[in-house]
Amino acid sequence: MTVGKVCNGHTPGVQGVRILTRAAKQIRKAVIPVAGLGTRFLPATKSLPKEMLPIVDKPLVQYAVEEAVSAGINQIVFVTGRNKRTIEDHFDVSFELEVMLQRANKAHLLPKLREISEMATFCYVRQQEARGLGHAVLCAKPLIDGEDFVVLLADEILHAPVSALQQMLNLYQIRPGPMVGLQAVEQAAVSQYGIVDAKQITQTLYRIKGMVEKPSLEDAPSNLSVVGRYILPHTIFAQLEKTTSGVGNEIQLTDALKALAGRMPVYGVCLEGERFDAGDKAGFLKATVALGLSDPQVGQTLRTYLKQLD
Ligand code: UTP
Repeated sequence: MTVGKVCNGHTPGVQGVRILTRAAKQIRKAVIPVAGLGTRFLPATKSLPKEMLPIVDKPLVQYAVEEAVSAGINQIVFVTGRNKRTIEDHFDVSFELEVMLQRANKAHLLPKLREISEMATFCYVRQQEARGLGHAVLCAKPLIDGEDFVVLLADEILHAPVSALQQMLNLYQIRPGPMVGLQAVEQAAVSQYGIVDAKQITQTLYRIKGMVEKPSLEDAPSNLSVVGRYILPHTIFAQLEKTTSGVGNEIQLTDALKALAGRMPVYGVCLEGERFDAGDKAGFLKATVALGLSDPQVGQTLRTYLKQLD
């Protein structure tokens, strides 16, 4: 339910402006779509879900879940598909493994394992065919009751002191409403991302006017790309139901968001941090080095090794 409320506007950059907004409610649910084919990572993803590829010692999808949980979200909805069962196993209790670890005098490893299954409530819904991100989000509709929710793409990692989602939720407290994470990319890279046409409101906040998925350099309205973090209203589902196939013959979340932006304010927030597209081989390797270097166990060894290469 949205409640009309006059806010005195203590948002960075909007001081003194009285804006009509709606009261922010605590967002409880995160949707993590994991039903894609991961074609850029074949043959590794022939039988292994891309989202289970590990960076240091955790699969990509665990980073996304931890980001959501640390931002106060306690219900995770996975949109899964064929060949994705290991994701369910990963977030479940592994009774046999726990018994074997105890027998092998490795009980000290148990708390780290138990934390995984206890950190949130996990629900699963199947996307029977990989028909695009928009379609994957639509599959979560039966598990989201009329409330705002977030979507995280596990293959996008933002390495930052404050997580991408937390940065967005901080702003959502002041400007509750649909929101996408943004980062500027090199002009030459615009055709790999969803790109926004946006009006700048403050140094970091934009109002979205349009969005285009993977545009050519000539058609790109800016170099501001959508990072895989979204805050969405329940009305996005009705919009997705009307959305027809777009780029790549897939139902694009970008197209539904563009239509939504024609009816209500949709914000874009420039996120601080280093972004890695871990669904891409080079991006995955860079993320491994960046996260490896900040890992307390292996960071120093990796740093020494990299220096030797220099
Ligand atoms: P991507 O486009 O990065 O994933 O989607 P992909 O399609 O699996 O990868 P490539 O391009 O073929 O290598 C971002 C996230 O959305 C999910 C993916 O699993 C990924 O985590 N996704 C994508 C779905 O759940 N369903 C889809 O139909 C498409």
